[in-house]
Formats: sequence, C-alpha cells, structure tokens
Amino acid sequence: MASVLTSSTLPYRASEAWIYDTVIAPAVAELRGAAEADFVTALPAGARVLEVGSGGGQLAVDLARRRPDVTVTGVDLSPAQVARARRRAATFADRVEFVTGSALELPVEDGRYDAVVSVASIKHWPDPLAGLRECARALRPGGALLVVEADRGCVLDDARRFVARWRMPAALRPVALVLFRTYVAGQGLDLDDARRLLAALPVVDAVAERVPGTPGLLLRGRRA
Ligand SMILES: C[S@@+](CC[C@H](N)C(=O)[O-])C[C@H]1O[C@@H](n2cnc3c(N)ncnc32)[C@H](O)[C@@H]1O
Repeated sequence: MASVLTSSTLPYRASEAWIYDTVIAPAVAELRGAAEADFVTALPAGARVLEVGSGGGQLAVDLARRRPDVTVTGVDLSPAQVARARRRAATFADRVEFVTGSALELPVEDGRYDAVVSVASIKHWPDPLAGLRECARALRPGGALLVVEADRGCVLDDARRFVARWRMPAALRPVALVLFRTYVAGQGLDLDDARRLLAALPVVDAVAERVPGTPGLLLRGRRA
C-alpha cells in the first residue's frame, strides 16, 4: 500500500500523522527552535502568520503561546493532520485556525500575512518553487518568509544526533538513521537548491544557510 515513505507527495494518513507526531516531531521541535528564534521576536505587533504544512500544530501552538498578540493560520494537505492540529490548539481556537489545502494552491488572499513559515514540509511538495511562489503571494510587501527543511548535504554526525532524539528504543536507531538519510534528508534540499529557489522568488534579503549542529537548513527573505 502506498505511504508517504514510498511516495512523498501523498497526504499523511492518520497512522503516519501519529507516528510523525509521537516519534519524530519532538526532534524537529529542536531544529525548528534554532531556526525560529529571531523570526518569532521580529514579528510585528498583532501579526498574522501563515504556516504551510502545519502538521500536528506544534509550531502554531508554540507561536500562540509565545506571542499572545498574533493570529496563526495553518494549512496542511492532510485532513488527519488538520484534525490533530485542531485538537492540539483547542485552547487557542480564537487565534489559531487550521484548514486543509495544498501549498501549491494556498486557500488564502494575496498579501494577507505578515509572515509565512514552513517547517519540514517543502520536500513533500510536488513543485517546491510553485509552493514558494504561493507563500510569497500570501505575504504583504516586507513580510517575512522562513522555510526550514532537512539538508540533503547534512553530515553524518548531525543526522545521528538528530535521530538520537527520536522517541524510540535506542536499538532501533541505526534503522532510523538509514530511513532519515534516505527518505527525509534524501528528499530534502541542499544549499544549492535553496539558493536557486530563493533567486526565483520576489524576495529581498534572501539567505540560505545550514542550521549549525543540526541536519537542517533554512531559507529566509522578505517579500519585495
Ligand atoms: C514532516 S511533516 C512536518 C509537520 C510540521 N511542520 C512539523 O514541523 O512538525 C510534513 C507536513 O507537510 C504536509 N504536506 C505535505 N505536502 C503538502 C502540500 N503539498 N501542501 C501542504 N502541506 C503538505 C504533510 O501533510 C505533513 O503534515
């Protein structure tokens, strides 16, 4: 049966959403935290934030907690992920919403958001550049774009450290490392991809860089 492992553009099924949330998302949180620190503090007062590929809603909840003035819209291809995110964010329902939709056709108005963020999702998009153009379309002029993804060129030690934080018995880590390098980082971006993608977007102050000590990289810029 097809799964997100064998076909990375499929929506996560409920079982895959559960496995991702339980086993892997805690490690991703650390990667996200390193990449996000400046992004969160730089959000203007009352900012509207769009998260693309919002998964189980961890980032949206974290943002809502850290910034009581912001509103967050999460978009995810998987109805199972959207349901999971809504449950997680129930106490912030007045400021955090989730909708089912594709990065390639974001169900949002042009220029509505002060910031667009996406973590560990772009590798699943059938056309990453088209998705990023949609992210740029959703941003107001000067709005911030932040994309975090696994680095196809990551070093083995960073991948090992990352997998060591997955919630699973240590004996399974060698298998997890192979899975991570093949299906996660292996389908992620490298720095050249990231620079090429940014160069094709209507953004200024574009930066593509590795997140030190992690197998991740980030792309950021501001809507021209
Ligand atoms: C690896 S998970 C990351 C979830 C979350 N951002 C996190 O950091 O924990 C990837 C997410 O991207 C979503 N996704 C995959 N393809 C997508 C697309 N074309 N448009 C929107 N979301 C997509 C998946 O359903 C999944 O929830």
